[in-house]
Amino acid sequence: MNESHRWVFPDTTASALLTVRPLSLSILEKYGMDPFTLPLVKAGDLCREKGISWDTFLGEMEALEIPAVDSEWSQVPLIRLLDYLTCEHQAFIRELHPGIMGAFWSLEKSREIPGRFAALIREWHAFENAFSEHIAAEESFLFPKILRYDYCVRHGKADPDFFKGSVRVFSTLQLHKNEHDLLEIIRSFIDLTRLAIPVIGEAAGPELELIGLLEAFDVKHQRHSRMEKEILVPMASALEKRLYDRFISGKSEQPHGFIPAAHVTRANEPF
Ligand SMILES: [Fe+2]
Ligand SMILES: [Fe+2]
Repeated sequence: MNESHRWVFPDTTASALLTVRPLSLSILEKYGMDPFTLPLVKAGDLCREKGISWDTFLGEMEALEIPAVDSEWSQVPLIRLLDYLTCEHQAFIRELHPGIMGAFWSLEKSREIPGRFAALIREWHAFENAFSEHIAAEESFLFPKILRYDYCVRHGKADPDFFKGSVRVFSTLQLHKNEHDLLEIIRSFIDLTRLAIPVIGEAAGPELELIGLLEAFDVKHQRHSRMEKEILVPMASALEKRLYDRFISGKSEQPHGFIPAAHVTRANEPF
């Protein structure tokens, strides 16, 4: 069971549901709820309209499991990849980052030289802000856009919203450079932290623990970044091209009928 009861309420908008848990689209679709035509529609109103009790809806939200990290991503529905990446964002911000900041502060308080870690704490704080901005850009533009593309391809008639920007342009101009810069900053941050630890030995246990936390974050962030660059963006760019081609050709209806969210959307599948 997840923590949906803490953030899903009858006045939570469809758009907020998809931002926090992209996989909630599978529940909305199951009940014939369209979150894209009216993104600010409230979950409680959608349930009333479809005759679904709030407890049933909330129970299904609570039962949504986070996809496994070792999923065969090219073989599972795109919304599962978006859901995994979004949940990992939350883990970075709510668990890993506070853990690292807490380790810095306890070192700063426990060691005799005041201010020894002050500069690194400031740097880490600046990194956290840059990282949060990167995540915000992904969750406010890139991920909703991809979710919408996937929905458009499967339903064949929703508006792909091309005029609010392109996945390909966003990833070329902003995402890739941003990812690269963040990865570099973490690596140099780990090097600087090592330099701030003069003696590595039994006395430096808390410092080594801090390095361990930073390295664990680095490994997870590198994997996360590769999944976005090497799996998500190529799949999304291919979807975008298919939708552009369809838009230009003037074909707007899905000849094969509605395809549910559990379906794996592949870039070269016929419409
Ligand atoms: Fe991300
Ligand atoms: Fe990213």
